[in-house]
Amino acid sequence: METVNQLLDSIKDVGRDAMRGGYSRAAYSTPELELRHWFIEQAQQRGLDVETDRNGIIWAWWGKPQDGALVTGSHLDSVPGGGAFDGPLGIASALAAVDILKTRGLDSKNTGPHRSLAITVFPEEEGSRFGVACLGSRLLTGAIAVDKALNLRDVDGNTFADVARGNRLDPRRVGRDPEAIARIGDFVELHVEQGKGLGHGGPAIAVGSSILGHGRWKLSVSGQGNHAGTTLMADRADPMVAAAQIVVAVRDTAARQPDARATVGRLTPVPGGTNVIASRVDLWLDARHPDDAVTAQLISAIYGVAREIAASEGCAVTLTEESYSGTVHFDPGLSRRIGELLPGAPVLATGAGHDAGVLAGHVPSAMLFVRNPSGISHSPEEYVADEDTAAGAIALADVLEGLL
Ligand code: GLV
Ligand code: MN
Ligand code: MN
Ligand code: MN
Repeated sequence: METVNQLLDSIKDVGRDAMRGGYSRAAYSTPELELRHWFIEQAQQRGLDVETDRNGIIWAWWGKPQDGALVTGSHLDSVPGGGAFDGPLGIASALAAVDILKTRGLDSKNTGPHRSLAITVFPEEEGSRFGVACLGSRLLTGAIAVDKALNLRDVDGNTFADVARGNRLDPRRVGRDPEAIARIGDFVELHVEQGKGLGHGGPAIAVGSSILGHGRWKLSVSGQGNHAGTTLMADRADPMVAAAQIVVAVRDTAARQPDARATVGRLTPVPGGTNVIASRVDLWLDARHPDDAVTAQLISAIYGVAREIAASEGCAVTLTEESYSGTVHFDPGLSRRIGELLPGAPVLATGAGHDAGVLAGHVPSAMLFVRNPSGISHSPEEYVADEDTAAGAIALADVLEGLL
């Protein structure tokens, strides 16, 4: 029997990022593989039967694999320089919840849960390596075309097909998996809360209601690559100067739209030399809004301003959609039952994407959020107090027990 803190403590050195701070655990990188291995060992120590499906999703079964099982899970990959909780909290809480359920007398080897329970680990939830968030659950549900997925590339130029092959997955078998989907009767993901929805003093656990529609776009600004010393200021077509103005325009355009969020968190100048005027700058735009039509308008407004800015700098710009997920409302019936099992838990919407959101279009899905008092996430400063991780495991155990 281990607490969530003990479990998280046992992985606290895996994937630490000395340069950025926090953790960098990209999908199928050495640290993420180490965490997957850690999870498999932890599951086996608890007598769970582990299998990895054709999309790289790990399933740890308490009871026989069966259709309509109760499934809980999250992810072990992180954003670059992420916190300790986004993803691993859901996995550690699931393991701790199994321990708690055993102390309550549920034991698959004797009486058995009424239906089987599985813990799942989804690869590439953050999209930090191949650019598409929730790649594992999108592949499972067919929410991404297999060809598109196989051809995604990481920053080193490796395709997802190469990386899949290197991790004993068969690229010809990657993609929609109706048999695996049929195994999920209900899906519950516990996650660190990533906004300021749960403050000090109040309840530590909330039930999720919805996820903002969100997507990723790439803006490529091209200009004239040239010499930083010999090119007169008047003679330049510098895409970095256009990109800087586009970043500000993204902020300003979103700020005028209530409830919108738009971010440029990554920008790559090509070729990227201190004494080189770039020939191209790629910017990645993350935009979110509860109304899909408003997001579409926002993107088209941003693209319009970006074209004007690029033209004024003698540059050109293109926009490509990389992924989009519409607004998701979690299953009302499942969420109501969870609310009954956690009396007094507030109901919260979230601006963050999750595998539970992708699954929600296919199976009843719901989420639990654990208090993160500052709301800071995707940062080394993400924080959950020890007593709240413990409360999260108990809440998850209560919910699983009630749903089994
Ligand atoms: C993933 O955490 C996202 O919402 O970007
Ligand atoms: Mn995240
Ligand atoms: Mn997450
Ligand atoms: Mn997420």
